[in-house]
Amino acid sequence: MNYRHGYHAGNFADVVKHLALVAILLHLRKKDTAFTVVDSHAGRGIYDLSGQQACKTAEAKNGIGQLAELSGDMPQALASYLSLVREIGRGQYPGSPLVIAKLLRARDRLIAIEKHPEEFAILQQTLGPFRQAVAECGDGYARTLKLVPPTSRRGLVLIDPPFESQDEFSVLARTVREAARKFATGIYLVWYAMKSQAEADAFCGEVLAGGLAKAMTIETAISAAPGKLARAGLLIVNPPYGFAAVFHDIGALIAPLLQASIKCTWLIGEE
Ligand SMILES: C[S@@+](CC[C@H](N)C(=O)[O-])C[C@H]1O[C@@H](n2cnc3c(N)ncnc32)[C@H](O)[C@@H]1O
Repeated sequence: MNYRHGYHAGNFADVVKHLALVAILLHLRKKDTAFTVVDSHAGRGIYDLSGQQACKTAEAKNGIGQLAELSGDMPQALASYLSLVREIGRGQYPGSPLVIAKLLRARDRLIAIEKHPEEFAILQQTLGPFRQAVAECGDGYARTLKLVPPTSRRGLVLIDPPFESQDEFSVLARTVREAARKFATGIYLVWYAMKSQAEADAFCGEVLAGGLAKAMTIETAISAAPGKLARAGLLIVNPPYGFAAVFHDIGALIAPLLQASIKCTWLIGEE
């Protein structure tokens, strides 16, 4: 458990992941009925971009740093994400549980799980003001399988592991398959590191073999120094109707700013 997200908060991969997260949450808010979000690998919820960890890598500079001044006409999810980041304050960046908590209505719920005790302690403080959110210290994979299906029967599972262990891809694939079997109508947003396209394709293939009806990927690539993360993927199971079109428009706006290529691909069930 050496991974600390503080070194990577606000980088290109965080920006794309959090934009997808906001787009899905805005969709869930369109209906009056309550929804539940499970954030299996939550982190601490807020990051100091002027702190020692962020300054050491300066990854946020080529991520949120490139978008901070963006204005004018833009898709609602991008506008909501930027206003949320600006509201947090200069030099701070929201992690996924804070992004989610800020977009919940009184009837919605968030369960955010974090295994590392120090990160968990800060997560608890971050979520303290939000009555609809609860932080748990534990294993996000095991808890996810216990928490689905939620009683609301509508919702999102975000799985964003650190990719520290050798078997992360296989545990991740097993968990997504099993969760999607138990909660087939749930939306799943799954982040994966991309050391090679073949490994990423094998992972998506393994999840798909569980028998999904609708799934797509968003894969982002930047040019990065050797040894640094240059490619990251998102697997979205049951993307909401219209999500792909929204993300296509967001990608067209942000890709040049991030100096990235952002590729959306339907794996199954194209709209
Ligand atoms: C990539 S970071 C999460 C970032 C966060 N989702 C965000 O977008 O702001 C992964 C986190 O998972 C935590 N972690 C590692 N193994 C875990 C496990 N088995 N269950 C829950 N959390 C775990 C790490 O301590 C780290 O904080």
